[in-house]
Amino acid sequence: MHKPILTGLFILAGAAALAHSGVQNQAVLARMEAMKSIGDAMKVLGRMAKGQASFDASAAQDAAAGIARHSADTPALFTARETDPKSEAKPAIWTDFADFTAKARALETAALDVSKSLTSPDDLVPAVQRLGQACKSCHSLYRE
Ligand code: HEC
Repeated sequence: MHKPILTGLFILAGAAALAHSGVQNQAVLARMEAMKSIGDAMKVLGRMAKGQASFDASAAQDAAAGIARHSADTPALFTARETDPKSEAKPAIWTDFADFTAKARALETAALDVSKSLTSPDDLVPAVQRLGQACKSCHSLYRE
C-alpha cells in the first residue's frame, strides 16, 4: 500500500475518534455513531416542532425513517457485550437483552408510524413526544 493512502486512512480514523473523544473500542464507537444519528434526526424534528425551522414534510418523514432504520440496527449493534471507558451503556443491557431489544423495536415501530403519518405541522409535537418517550424508556434503564 502506498504511503499517502495509509496517511489518508489514519486521518479518517482520527476524525471518527475525535467525534467521540477517545473511544478506543470500534464496536462501542459504531453503536455510539448510530445513537448519534438518531439524536441528530430527533434534532431535525425538534427544531421544526419548536418553530426554529419551517415545516418540511419530506425532511421530517426522512428524519423519522432514519430513526426507524437505526433503531432496527440497535439490537445487533449491542449483541456483543463490548465496553469502553467512554461508554454510557449499563451492564443491565446484557442481563435483560430481550427487554432491551423490545425497547429498540418499540422505537422502530413508533418511528415507522411517524414517517408515514407526519403530514402537517400539527403532527410534529405529538410525534416528537411519542419518539421521545421511546428514547426515555430505554435510556432510563440502560444508559448512564
Ligand atoms: C433500546 C435502547 C435505546 C433506545 C430506544 C434509544 N437509545 Fe440512545 N442510547 C442507548 C444506549 C445504551 C446508549 C449508550 C451507548 C454507549 O455509550 O455505549 C445511548 C446513547 C445515546 C446517545 C449518545 C451517543 C454518543 O454520542 O455517545 C444519544 C445522542 C442517544 N442515545 C439518543 C437517542 C434518542 C434521541 C433516542 C430516541 C429517538 C434514543 N437514543 C433511543 C440506548 C437506546
